[in-house]
Amino acid sequence: MNAIKVGLLGIGTVGGGTFEVLRRNQEEIKGRAGRGIEIAMVADLNSERAKSIVGDGVPVVSDARQVIANPEIDIVVELIGGYGIAKTLVLEAIAAGKHVVTANKALLAVHGTEIFAAAREKGVVVAFEAAVAGGIPIIKALREGLAANRIEWAAGIINGTTNFILSEMRSKGLDFGTVLKEAQRLGYAEADPTFDIEGVDAAHKATLMSALAFGIPVQFDKAHVEGITQLQATDIKYAEQLGYRIKLLGITRRREKGIELRVHPTLIPTTRLIANVEGAMNAVVVQGDAVGTTLYYGKGAGAEPTASAVIADLVDITRLATADPDHRVPHLAFQPDAISSTPI
Ligand code: NDP
Ligand code: HSE
Repeated sequence: MNAIKVGLLGIGTVGGGTFEVLRRNQEEIKGRAGRGIEIAMVADLNSERAKSIVGDGVPVVSDARQVIANPEIDIVVELIGGYGIAKTLVLEAIAAGKHVVTANKALLAVHGTEIFAAAREKGVVVAFEAAVAGGIPIIKALREGLAANRIEWAAGIINGTTNFILSEMRSKGLDFGTVLKEAQRLGYAEADPTFDIEGVDAAHKATLMSALAFGIPVQFDKAHVEGITQLQATDIKYAEQLGYRIKLLGITRRREKGIELRVHPTLIPTTRLIANVEGAMNAVVVQGDAVGTTLYYGKGAGAEPTASAVIADLVDITRLATADPDHRVPHLAFQPDAISSTPI
């Protein structure tokens, strides 16, 4: 069977990682998907840099609409970021009948309701494993692995940049600005790192986890958001002396009156596992009524960890698109018309 054809929009940190991992592990991925997955076209504003990454075999354009208009493309992967052009392109790809994979938590946390509704109407999938906790398959866990449970709460370190900053400040005594620059150099930070350090990125992710865990609409505007910019080196030092570590947590919890959704620095006893999650690692704890407490740990940012999640979505969609239509298991994408309207 022919390979499924993918159009890649944006070949920066995550796009580059996705291209490389798909190339390197193509045989394993093909075996798991039941069919090859081929990047058939790439769009990036910097088409010269893009060509230097993909080589001669793959057409590169600077206008993303050429990818969407290409009738050969089955899946569009949006790795541009932001709510601007990315939103327009995702909606255009859906309207053109393409499945979409995105790592763009900002876009989905703010415009998810509109995007998922458009996808449902068109009968295509919008998959977003990479949007929360990088390489950790937390979306799959919430949607599939824990499907039997009444989720009580989910909480965790879901921003790699801030965890890296807090870890380096504590263990090496480095100052905030120096570590932030290093996080940017390593490809962890958002294009606008304000989103990381002010807790906005973690709130985008917590919003998506909350929607999946509790079946509520994506409501980023209801989140309490507090970042790490007010923290001083002395706060970290005194916390340590008292037996605590400061971590930026994203928390969503079922309460009697509704669902709580918050992001803020939290004091955690150093004896707890999550207090010892260092660097750009992420960790999410989910409490379900049947399973009890579960813990998910791994790299929360960076090119290849995030590519791992993007490609997992590509494999899922390839299986779905390839199955005999009469025997397809419905893809467990977020279904906005199946949600309750529990107030937050
Ligand atoms: P980058 O900035 O590294 O890459 C984005 C790429 O898109 C750049 O090459 C940029 O080109 C290109 N681009 C911008 N506008 C357009 C356009 N109109 N058409 C085509 N290409 C365009 O970002 P990341 O790879 O870090 O992030 C991509 C997405 O993944 C974001 O949504 C981010 O939040 C998410 N994400 C990132 C993670 C990470 O660890 N970095 C982890 C998880 C999710 P140019 O540079 O010339 O502007
Ligand atoms: N800027 C994000 C972080 C990237 O640091 O966690 C991964 O979503």
